[in-house]
Amino acid sequence: MSERCVVVGAGGISGAWFPPLKAEGVDIAAIVDLRLEAAVGRAKQYELDSYTTTSLRRALHKTRPDFVVDLTVPEAHCKVTCQALRAGCHVIGEKPMAASMREARRMVKAAEESGKLYMVSQSRRWDAKHETLRRTIASGEIGQVTTINCDFYLGAHFGGFRDEMESPLILDMAIHHFDLARFFTGLDPVAVYAKEFNPVGSWYKGDVAASCIFEMSNGVIFTYRGSWCAEGCHTSWNGDWRIIGDRGTLLYDHDQDPHGQVVAGTEGFNRPLRDAAIVTAEVPYTGMHGALRELLHYLRTGARPQTECHDNIKSLAMVFGAIESSRKGRRVEVKGQD
Ligand SMILES: NC(=O)c1ccc[n+]([C@@H]2O[C@H](COP(=O)([O-])OP(=O)(O)OC[C@H]3O[C@@H](n4cnc5c(N)ncnc54)[C@H](O)[C@@H]3O)[C@@H](O)[C@H]2O)c1
Repeated sequence: MSERCVVVGAGGISGAWFPPLKAEGVDIAAIVDLRLEAAVGRAKQYELDSYTTTSLRRALHKTRPDFVVDLTVPEAHCKVTCQALRAGCHVIGEKPMAASMREARRMVKAAEESGKLYMVSQSRRWDAKHETLRRTIASGEIGQVTTINCDFYLGAHFGGFRDEMESPLILDMAIHHFDLARFFTGLDPVAVYAKEFNPVGSWYKGDVAASCIFEMSNGVIFTYRGSWCAEGCHTSWNGDWRIIGDRGTLLYDHDQDPHGQVVAGTEGFNRPLRDAAIVTAEVPYTGMHGALRELLHYLRTGARPQTECHDNIKSLAMVFGAIESSRKGRRVEVKGQD
């Protein structure tokens, strides 16, 4: 028997969700959007006979889905997700979890009270190179992690809402990199000192660049430098990474295969080095499809997805911690659920 879902939000990113939903044989019972024409347009494009409406309440009542896919804008995530959870549905939603920590905590509480699952699709986790980096670190090849650096520099001329946001880089993009730092190392945030700024000549209204120093668990330091207003010599969208352990270093940049060096002797000013042994991983279902597979696996076996809300709120807390630190001009503690 196939699972039944309601998709809420038929905008840009929904184009990345309908193909995997169809491929997995999910019954897309309804498509909801405040703009009815968007919902109808997606149904037509993907040859679906789904019920289309502007009302989530009506869609839930009429179709009684197993889960809701929340693809609305961040400001609507809390309302849509809480409504779906209270109606007895599991929810898989787009990043970022919410537009504030207060809303995110309300969503975690709604999941607990309903006894239903709420997971965030943090799509960059489902990627073979990212899984390779995670497994290589977990294998102990570079020893105990001490230092994480990520640089992200692009000259991105979007036009539209990002040009008007107060913190476009940190709120809209850095959530991916902050979450990847946690994914690669298994470490959680403790505190942050951050400075957001808007470079001279910027075509953005808000602070589109930032330097952040996170204190992570185990005393590890994660330094993040980024800008969407940096012309030339771009990094990858995934960021360029250096992860240092007490026995060696791994590099992952320009989307090339992760590689590195580890110590191979005990003598010399610079100790002799050898290439790091990389634990190569395959990820058959990437991006949103990977997230969806974890949700379906949960429905069939009860195995909790890695980006379940109690975990993902820690990545969101890094975002709001960095913004708070920059506004206050001082180090702040990063707190997730409480
Ligand atoms: N994982 C990724 O790489 C990635 C990439 C792009 C966007 N996203 C995320 O996906 C989400 C949606 O982004 P988008 O680019 O599709 O935005 P969009 O503006 O193109 O689409 C959002 C849609 O939601 C609808 N909507 C808004 N509030 C609603 C509500 N309360 N009920 C029903 N419909 C509502 C809008 O009418 C619109 O059609 C955002 O959270 C964004 O950050 C993720």
